[in-house]
Amino acid sequence: MKNKILVYLLSFLFTLVFLSCSASLKDEKELLNLRNTFSNIIPKPVSITPTNKFFILDKSAKVYVEPMNTETSFIGKYLAGIIKPSTGYSLQVLKSDENAVERNIYLTINGKDKSLGEEGYELTVSEERINLSADAPAGLFRGVQTLRQLFPYSIESSDIEPGLWEIPTGTIKDYPRFEWRGVMLDVARHFFSVKDVKSYIDLSALYKINYLHLHLSDDQGWRIQINSWPNLSTYGGSTQVDGGKGDYYTQAEYSEIVAYAQERYITVVPEIDMPGHTNAALASYPELNNDGIAPSLYTGIEVGFSALAIKKDITYKFIHDVIKELSAITPGPYIHIGGDEAPKIDSIDYVHFIDKVQSIVYSFGKKMVGWDEISKANLFPTSVAQHWDNEIILNAVKQGVKVIMSPASKTYLDMKYDSTTGLGLFWAGYIEVKDAYNWDPATQMGGISENNILGIEAPLWSETIINLDDIEYLAFPRLAGHAEIGWSQVKGRNWDEYKERLAEHGLRWTEKGLNFYRSPQVLWK
Ligand code: ACM
Repeated sequence: MKNKILVYLLSFLFTLVFLSCSASLKDEKELLNLRNTFSNIIPKPVSITPTNKFFILDKSAKVYVEPMNTETSFIGKYLAGIIKPSTGYSLQVLKSDENAVERNIYLTINGKDKSLGEEGYELTVSEERINLSADAPAGLFRGVQTLRQLFPYSIESSDIEPGLWEIPTGTIKDYPRFEWRGVMLDVARHFFSVKDVKSYIDLSALYKINYLHLHLSDDQGWRIQINSWPNLSTYGGSTQVDGGKGDYYTQAEYSEIVAYAQERYITVVPEIDMPGHTNAALASYPELNNDGIAPSLYTGIEVGFSALAIKKDITYKFIHDVIKELSAITPGPYIHIGGDEAPKIDSIDYVHFIDKVQSIVYSFGKKMVGWDEISKANLFPTSVAQHWDNEIILNAVKQGVKVIMSPASKTYLDMKYDSTTGLGLFWAGYIEVKDAYNWDPATQMGGISENNILGIEAPLWSETIINLDDIEYLAFPRLAGHAEIGWSQVKGRNWDEYKERLAEHGLRWTEKGLNFYRSPQVLWK
């Protein structure tokens, strides 16, 4: 009997030991599966040289910055802030100490390699340390996004994850192909809170986007407080598409968005659309109308019916005052004046109008950006034309003006993915993830080549979207592809390889709780 009990006891103990061993073996296997490689980075870097080992980050690591100043310490803290939620490590950010013995992260602005430019960086990971160096703070910030992507995907979790925080060793040298890699958010058709805009900024920063174009006014709403014309926002901003309650940004809120973007090396470009797309302004001030009668507020989604009274002096006083206030709260060099879809205005009058508005913009020390149609006017060499749907853009190119490529059939994030997509429109066609990726700005339109192009931008119009979940669904995965088209070299870019990287980013997005579209074109993990 005694022997029997002993045998039972022993076999029970043996089973326990066996089970706990196999559990830890399984954990180890899972951890190995979590390991990342250099081949998952989006946008794809210029050059990668793997050395096939791993740096292990532990809780004693520090982030050393050189030189230590407001910008570098902000970037160091931003990196520590990314690492903290999932690892539970609170990495200190300190002035560089070359004698430190732990495995640390070094962020350095050394200005040694001029070929990197403002936004380029060099990242070297060895078993002992991580070195990220750049010529300018923007480059460090972009490099931090790459480093973030080298961690296992669970780094993006907002809960502490059990993990061996391993980063593959090797060197990356990287810089952007195009100077302008933008996203546009239409806050006029539907309004989005400061918090939502900040979230979109964070998601864009992850993919090295550097311009946020805010479409601040349209027929359905005026979204920025203008002190000298207060009804624009209080009345013109009071509703939105489908008649819900609208809203607007106070100048302080707008400045908060601008500063948040700036900390992420993203420049805000405010757009006040004119002379068409102006019903909200016309409804707010009767004197801006040809007949002096204010129309009703508009909550539909038609275009092309509204126009400022472009022969009245008061209209130019209005534009002057708006651009003056907007310029004062916009540190970036550009003001976007729209200029699209104004069929109510005669061609000659339209040219006069844009010429005059251009002078107003430059009188406040800003450069003008406008959609295709502004190419009919006499553009200054530093004005910028944004291509969306019209060959008239070639007129701008002939004038030596640079172009932002936003062809609607490729970059409009509000186009449905396919016929089953609940959100979005489809006037420019369905845009599946592959269609959004498989094109190149320099070959998209005859007459526009690489050196005519300032960059690319992906607009998100908001007729059908009402919240951040909707923004995420239409923007992801496509935004990642546009970011790569704007940043990465065209050589070596191909869909079959890209879609593998995208699948790994799906894991990251899941960790973040992002509401992305699981396209059947990608084998999600
Ligand atoms: C535009 O889509 N009307 C620029």
